Amino acid sequence: MAREFLMRKGLESAQLEADLLVAHALGTDRLGMLLKLEERVAPDQLDAAREALVRRGRREPVAYITGRREFYGRPFLVGAGVLIPRPETELLVDQAREVLEERGDDAAPARVLDIGTGSGCLAVTLALEVEGLRPHAVDASEDALSWARQNGTALEADVEWIHGDGFDVLKRGAPWDVVVSNPPYIDPSHAEQLEPDVRDHEPGIALFGPANDPDLWARELVQNASRFLAPGGVLLVELGHDQAARLEGIVSGIQIVPDLSGVPRVLRLQAGD
Ligand SMILES: C[S@@+](CC[C@H](N)C(=O)[O-])C[C@H]1O[C@@H](n2cnc3c(N)ncnc32)[C@H](O)[C@@H]1O
Repeated sequence: MAREFLMRKGLESAQLEADLLVAHALGTDRLGMLLKLEERVAPDQLDAAREALVRRGRREPVAYITGRREFYGRPFLVGAGVLIPRPETELLVDQAREVLEERGDDAAPARVLDIGTGSGCLAVTLALEVEGLRPHAVDASEDALSWARQNGTALEADVEWIHGDGFDVLKRGAPWDVVVSNPPYIDPSHAEQLEPDVRDHEPGIALFGPANDPDLWARELVQNASRFLAPGGVLLVELGHDQAARLEGIVSGIQIVPDLSGVPRVLRLQAGD
């Protein structure tokens, strides 16, 4: 019944989503649900399942309904007001880890800034993956930052959270050894082409770059990198699928790293020593 309801609403992964949502309402996972098949379902659990399915039928993202999304093997709390972490963003973590782990043990603790931290997925993951690291993370959205702080607390990550404009913090706190950012890079004129799950539910401030110039944020970072990076410091920026060609020639030394699907996904730029 749950699957048919979601199929009627036009959802492609109706079976999987129905299982996830019903399991969540029953306070278990998909396997746990199978084990409980012969148990009676309490009326409040039935109500919770019905509500979850109705929300999904209105195209609210599954992660907002269950309140969680996995990133780099850890559960991140998410809900209205924050971007749901995407798997391709894990490449930014891999790249930053590579840079940070190459620093010798004798080097001073690295100064790392995550601009537009959202759920905190990058800053929290780096704090937990790189020993002794205490990243700074900034977001202009109070709502997003409150999710980031909750994730820092829940996952016991030591991060300096800052509410404000990313570029102010970037300038004020320079020099940085590593700057990571997954900026809002969708052209607002393409909003109609987005899935309703994204367009109607995730925050516009996290999705859309300035009208007619979705590259602005990445370009500003690249063009000013020598001003805010420490000698040998590295800038890592996530790109939309079509941005690399427009950005890779604007200064020399830019490297573009593809993701697992072959999409040019991360822009990497190292400052001279
Ligand atoms: C694409 S989301 C990335 C979120 C998270 N880093 C991730 O990868 O899932 C961009 C984030 O930038 C934030 N943002 C937008 N403009 C900003 C600004 N001027 N200064 C700081 N953060 C900003 C948004 O609130 C949003 O959380």
